[in-house]
Amino acid sequence: MEPLLSRESIKIAPSILSADFANFGKEIEAVEEQGCDWIHIDVMDGHFVPNITFGPETCKAIRPHIKTFMDVHLMISPVDQYLEAFAEAGADMITIHFEAGQHIHRSLQAINSLGVKAGLALNPGTSYEVADQLVDLVDLICVMTVNPGFGGQKFITSQLRKIERLSNLKKHKDFLIEVDGGITADTAPSVVSAGADILVAGSAVFSNGSVNNPIVYGQNIKRIREAAESALKIEG
Ligand code: DX5
Ligand code: ZN
Repeated sequence: MEPLLSRESIKIAPSILSADFANFGKEIEAVEEQGCDWIHIDVMDGHFVPNITFGPETCKAIRPHIKTFMDVHLMISPVDQYLEAFAEAGADMITIHFEAGQHIHRSLQAINSLGVKAGLALNPGTSYEVADQLVDLVDLICVMTVNPGFGGQKFITSQLRKIERLSNLKKHKDFLIEVDGGITADTAPSVVSAGADILVAGSAVFSNGSVNNPIVYGQNIKRIREAAESALKIEG
């Protein structure tokens, strides 16, 4: 599989969970113009997580507004019956949780067979060891640094150890490490030092800005990126 990026460039992926839900198209265009790398789409079912967002039809509607990379994070269980619809909606990456069904290995195989990149998300309570078992089927492992369901929660520091262990695994396996939840300019350096490649950020990107004042989005993205890159420089 083609590499998605090298570690010299940390990717910033704004989560539209913190955008204006009545204006997804323009919000996405604004953050892309302001320099983000991926667009992170949080799909929640009110069952796997205690919140509901939207489904494949919304993903299909916003797809034409995304020029970068459509990173779809499914917080759905059971997930299998919806994978095809999200692939057809134009997802570049579909990430599912370890707990998303009875047979996670089979679900990841299904994503691979749909021709979409596959991601595995690990909740704060999910053990590192599951990644070790499934890494050959995935392009990305997403470490949840909050319990999934809501934006704006506090970063869970204990997950840094999991990121470090994944970073060791990455020395002989080909996948990316994404970190999702509570990422700000303050927490970014620690996750990058631990080994993160992609930083999802919702509230830290969208706060205080709007489609009428997109410069603020740019400033927010820049602040997170500079903090992240400062940790890379220290690594040398
Ligand atoms: C949480 C979602 C995250 C969330 C991140 O369930 O998966 O993507 O939107 O939001 P912040 O950056 O505000 O923690
Ligand atoms: Zn997410």
